[in-house]
Amino acid sequence: MNEHIVATPVTETSGRGRLFGRVALVGGGGGGIGRAVAQLFVSEGASVVVADRPESDGKSVAESLGIHGEFAEVDVRSSSDWAAAVDLSQSRFGTPPDIFVQVAGVMVGGAVDSATEESVRLALDVNAVGNFLGIQAVIPGMKGQRRGSIVIVTSMAGVSYGVAGLTPYSMSKAAASALVQCAALDLGKHGIRVNSVVPGQIDTPMSRNAGVSPDPSFFAKMPIPRVGQPRDVAHAALYLSSDESSWVTGTHLLVDGGMDAGPVLG
Ligand SMILES: NC(=O)c1ccc[n+]([C@@H]2O[C@H](COP(=O)([O-])OP(=O)(O)OC[C@H]3O[C@@H](n4cnc5c(N)ncnc54)[C@H](O)[C@@H]3O)[C@@H](O)[C@H]2O)c1
Repeated sequence: MNEHIVATPVTETSGRGRLFGRVALVGGGGGGIGRAVAQLFVSEGASVVVADRPESDGKSVAESLGIHGEFAEVDVRSSSDWAAAVDLSQSRFGTPPDIFVQVAGVMVGGAVDSATEESVRLALDVNAVGNFLGIQAVIPGMKGQRRGSIVIVTSMAGVSYGVAGLTPYSMSKAAASALVQCAALDLGKHGIRVNSVVPGQIDTPMSRNAGVSPDPSFFAKMPIPRVGQPRDVAHAALYLSSDESSWVTGTHLLVDGGMDAGPVLG
């Protein structure tokens, strides 16, 4: 047998779900995309610690997951909050998380000539440093298990292109994207994979509050002519979290209805 031909490991699902027996920590699990991730993961056999701010919908999302859900009060800017969420996973589900999906984020706008220093620092703190602190919190448990999958939700803003009037947000998402690649390089030897999902416009409270309402004429020109739904992002996170992506790390998976492929002419 050719030594370079290695049998593909069979993913054990046996009808029990693609994440059967896994424990996931979902940052921002009370938000539009985070809720879809938490619910899909439980339907695929995982237990989920929903991490979000106390004033979010995180607690009710966790309650909707029944015995497979638990809520952790986390401000992503706090390393001690992340550590407590990992401890909660251990005490509630018997193991630290072997999946970490970081969805929490804030939309902070401003053009480069008018954005305040405070707004740039806020975006970087939540959308970039928050991811870094979360990753640091889950690493020891994943190293101990010799496996782990980390998925960071970034954005096409700052990754595929800049967006006029969104300097703080775009800067922070570009930093998060670089973090994904650095972490993939540093952690692969420990059996930990790190990837990002890069959404286009998704219909959630964040996009609605930002006044980016789904304009039918905008979406009509896209290869797949509709606004994205939270479940579109959740299914991408599921693939990257499951063993089906066991040879995938350091990648950025676009979920954008084809928007990044280029302009549709005619
Ligand atoms: N909606 C879109 O069109 C879109 C597009 C691209 C990327 N994204 C990204 O997807 C992610 C989720 O966005 P969404 O649309 O579900 O927004 P959302 O506003 O519905 O959810 C965001 C969640 O993050 C939580 N959060 C914010 N600051 C936090 C903090 N300091 N600590 C802990 N939790 C905090 C909020 O409580 C909320 O539950 C964000 O990172 C966002 O940048 C969204």
